[in-house]
Amino acid sequence: MAKLIDGKAVAAEVRAKVALEVEELTRNGVVPGLAVVIVGDDPASRTYVNNKKKACAQAGIYSEEYALPETTSQEELMTLIQKLNLKKDINGILVQSPLPSTLDEEAVVEAINPEKDVDAFHPSNVGRIMIGNFHFLPCTPAGIIELINSEQIDITGKNCVVIGRSNIVGKPMAMLLLHHNGTVTICHSKTRNLAEICKNADILVAAVGKPKFVTADMVKPGAVVIDVGMDRDMDGKLCGDVDFVNVEKIASWITPVPGGVGPMTIAMLLKNTVVAARRQNGIL
Ligand code: GUN
Repeated sequence: MAKLIDGKAVAAEVRAKVALEVEELTRNGVVPGLAVVIVGDDPASRTYVNNKKKACAQAGIYSEEYALPETTSQEELMTLIQKLNLKKDINGILVQSPLPSTLDEEAVVEAINPEKDVDAFHPSNVGRIMIGNFHFLPCTPAGIIELINSEQIDITGKNCVVIGRSNIVGKPMAMLLLHHNGTVTICHSKTRNLAEICKNADILVAAVGKPKFVTADMVKPGAVVIDVGMDRDMDGKLCGDVDFVNVEKIASWITPVPGGVGPMTIAMLLKNTVVAARRQNGIL
């Protein structure tokens, strides 16, 4: 039976450390500030944004929310980004993804000052991650590395398989595992023999967005299984990309959904906001 990696507990540790750092910065006159921008009224995005704001408040981070209507134009959004780029009390800018299809998300991300890009989505930060000379790490992949480290699991030399090639999770995840000396394979919808490749993984990261996609026959006995999914099963119940009940029986470690990767994403966002505040104030 696999050991559970408790994302809630690990995230709480990270958040407690962040809160201490914020307290010290605040004593020195620097209150880290995060601006969260949400366009439209997608319920999942609304929940994420609410959770991010609540987490900021708990850590002592100042936050501002900009909730814009679905009908917002590209120019209006770009003007807001420019304003936030110049705003002294804002160290981090997060534009909740996905944006309505009428807006050019790539242009918005590129307009964010890379020093305030706490998602690490800007091409300049993505390039830095590729090179290994980064200021910010993308929140979800960085959170997963924290989870793996929390159990003292060594990545060096391991076969790491990432399912999913998104810019938010799959690609940066592969890069971080590579920086930790893993031998990395990225699988995606066009991959042949996907099950066979997964079966070879010592560390398997599922970021597919399909409920219970990873079944027990795709998992090597003793593998570490990380589930990034936030899906709904046929009964409408929250589940991950991994068939947890059956995979749990053969993996050595596994992350639950909820309570695995999810809580880490927010914790790492807070950490990045503190890094941004430090860098912008020359306190390193
Ligand atoms: N939508 C889903 N995950 C994320 C994230 O990490 N950052 C932003 N900005 N939007 C998201």
